[in-house]
Amino acid sequence: MIARPLLQVTRLGCHYGPIQALDDVSLTVGDGELVALVGANGAGKTTLLRAVSGVQPASAGAILFDGVDITTLAAERRVRLGIIQVPEGRQVLGPMTVEDNLTLGGYSRTRAEVADTLEQVYAMFPVLKERRGQAAGILSGGQQQMLAIARGLMARPRILLLDEPSMGLSPILVDEVFEKVAAQKAQGTTIFLVEQNAFLALSVADRAYVLEAGKVILSDTGEALKTNEKVKAAYLGL
Ligand SMILES: Nc1ncnc2c1ncn2[C@@H]1O[C@H](COP(=O)(O)OP(=O)(O)OP(=O)(O)O)[C@@H](O)[C@H]1O
Ligand SMILES: [Mg+2]
Repeated sequence: MIARPLLQVTRLGCHYGPIQALDDVSLTVGDGELVALVGANGAGKTTLLRAVSGVQPASAGAILFDGVDITTLAAERRVRLGIIQVPEGRQVLGPMTVEDNLTLGGYSRTRAEVADTLEQVYAMFPVLKERRGQAAGILSGGQQQMLAIARGLMARPRILLLDEPSMGLSPILVDEVFEKVAAQKAQGTTIFLVEQNAFLALSVADRAYVLEAGKVILSDTGEALKTNEKVKAAYLGL
């Protein structure tokens, strides 16, 4: 059974000039679900997240959030609705301290709320608390990815959009980041996860979609897709 839909993407198209990056994409993320989007390089995964967060305009179709049509809503307004994207490649502010990076993540909220959430985030990421006074740029890659996710959590997301959290990390750090993602889901956060590492993504996801050249070609539970012959051959190297 699919939970009450929180995010509904219907027949979405996106273009970069003449290049069609997304074509007739429909998908749903239920409230409290962890849904993954997997696909090769250039499939359109980042474009889809950018369309949901409002930094990439739709050229066709509709995006509904909690039943409200947000297709043309400004990105800033979507942040206030709780649609929070953690961008590809981490993008923490290197010269600023860990804590300042986190505080920035809560810019749309009151000081008291930020202080409260900061404590929760530190409880979940003790290493960030230890290093809160240090420049973000000197953290390891894995710690920077934790910081990028934690910064997203500071906004109290209703849906967290994660773009390739495993990118560039060693296997041990990837496991650590995915443990945090799973823990966040367990706490009730709705997560839409984009990954090239299909095995990992399908392992943690309730459901997943496979994107190929801008189109959804398959969707099922994470477990079912892991044993799907086409997925195994194309994405799992099996
Ligand atoms: N700013 C841009 N201008 C023109 N074309 C773009 C732009 N960004 C992406 N594209 C094209 O749109 C398509 C989808 O790109 P997108 O970045 O969404 O893919 P992706 O699945 O996130 O890939 P990756 O796994 O490499 O991150 C690709 O063909 C890409 O070349
Ligand atoms: Mg991408």
